[in-house]
Amino acid sequence: MITLSAADFGKSSIDTLAIPVCEDKPLHQGPVAELVQAVRQAHAFNGEAGERMTWGQPEGSRIRCAVFVGLGKAGDLDADAWRRFAGGAVGEGMARRLKEMHLAVPSPEATGMEEADLIAAIAEGACLGNHVFDRYKAEKKRQPLEKICLLTGGGAVKAHLALVERIETTCAGTRMAREWVSTPSNDKVPEAFAAEVVAAAKEAGLKATVLDEKALRRKGFGALLAVAAGSDHPPVMTVLEHKPKGAKKTVVLVGKGVTFDSGGINLKPAGSQIEEMKMDMAGAAVVAATLISIARLNPPVHVVGVLPLVENMPSGRATRPGDIVKSFAGKTVEIGNTDAEGRLILIDALAWAVQQYKPDAILDLATLTGACVVALGEKIAGLFSADDALAEAILTAAARTGERCWRLPLPKDYKEQIKSEFADISNLGATRWGGAITAALFLSAFVETTRWAHLDIAGPAYSKKASDYAPAGGTGFGVRLLLDLLDRI
Ligand code: BES
Ligand code: MN
Ligand code: ZN
Repeated sequence: MITLSAADFGKSSIDTLAIPVCEDKPLHQGPVAELVQAVRQAHAFNGEAGERMTWGQPEGSRIRCAVFVGLGKAGDLDADAWRRFAGGAVGEGMARRLKEMHLAVPSPEATGMEEADLIAAIAEGACLGNHVFDRYKAEKKRQPLEKICLLTGGGAVKAHLALVERIETTCAGTRMAREWVSTPSNDKVPEAFAAEVVAAAKEAGLKATVLDEKALRRKGFGALLAVAAGSDHPPVMTVLEHKPKGAKKTVVLVGKGVTFDSGGINLKPAGSQIEEMKMDMAGAAVVAATLISIARLNPPVHVVGVLPLVENMPSGRATRPGDIVKSFAGKTVEIGNTDAEGRLILIDALAWAVQQYKPDAILDLATLTGACVVALGEKIAGLFSADDALAEAILTAAARTGERCWRLPLPKDYKEQIKSEFADISNLGATRWGGAITAALFLSAFVETTRWAHLDIAGPAYSKKASDYAPAGGTGFGVRLLLDLLDRI
């Protein structure tokens, strides 16, 4: 739980208080400023970036322990620096096995940020950082804090209570997506993962339906079924729906849900991150967690989450390179490479969702290409859209949540690359260059008349290493971005 209140150091006693300190500027007023002043003088703590210091029972205060966190120069601090501060502080609290921790919010004037943005960033860092994934470990070394209290030096606390509450919900969504992504593939085969999603969705009050393999066959999901063919675990497609009365807009979110991507007959070789491919359902996890958060936040928009769930495996029944299948949209697809499976399940899900819901906008999130990671690295998602307004809205949301996206082009002449000699289209580019683009162009051929955007999250969906506000594993990248976006499309 996270709370926000005005600090009253005279009355309440505090166990552990984390205090951000800059080297060039005081950030606080009142008793906290005095503490910082004292520690600066007595212990030569300068507030340099990365510097940290603990002071037990500072004299004359009712604080049992003060943790000073150095942040460097005040002018360099942006929202993400405040998320990192809060995440790092909470991490320190968890390492100390605390149950409760206080964080001293600086005065907004000192940071040059709006009070709401500052509080939001600190609340986000704290909520996102307060997370451990240890379901598979006997020894639980760290445990999330039970309570995090943000203390302001005054200001309009009441005006921000709803904001903090919203952040608690959105960050719970991110944590939920992370856990699903970090869960190993043996514990989330399509039907099992669908069952978990449906249970969580129903509990949150969403309408949830599952199309099983038979239904998918009947409806003609030929491209999706081709991916699933090699696995002993049948595919499913889960649909989650938030439909408030009077909603004027319909938005569909589609998430790639490959519960394990071996590559299929084009088996991934060693060194191609095959052991990380449990994360290939991150798009689906993010969409599911977003819908569940939406149910809690109840925005006045009709939102549908579509999760095509398959396992991509090689076997005697697996689809072969060169096979031609008929997609839901009716177009035939030559499967040049069975490892380009994400786009195959997505085109069927996209085409079905467009037909079923006639949405005002459709977005897909997918760990689609290694090429996107080559282009943008592991922290930035590729954004593709022919619709400038939609792309701008996504970039704005991304800037606000710190889930960075970079727009990449959809050049028409590159469509040449995905022409097939024998079928209507090929799932593989003629050359390996521009692989993130050819994948996006392939998708675009199946959503020609609807406002559409595609986020290639292959880089930021998963991290081998822990960061200031996320443990190692699934990052939940996209949940907060999508929730922010819904308010502006
Ligand atoms: N799931 C992978 C993409 C991926 C790679 C995600 C690395 C995260 C980290 C996707 O299904 C894939 O295998 N893509 C191929 C496409 C190629 C065969 C055209 C790739 O990127 O190599
Ligand atoms: Mn693949
Ligand atoms: Zn994949």
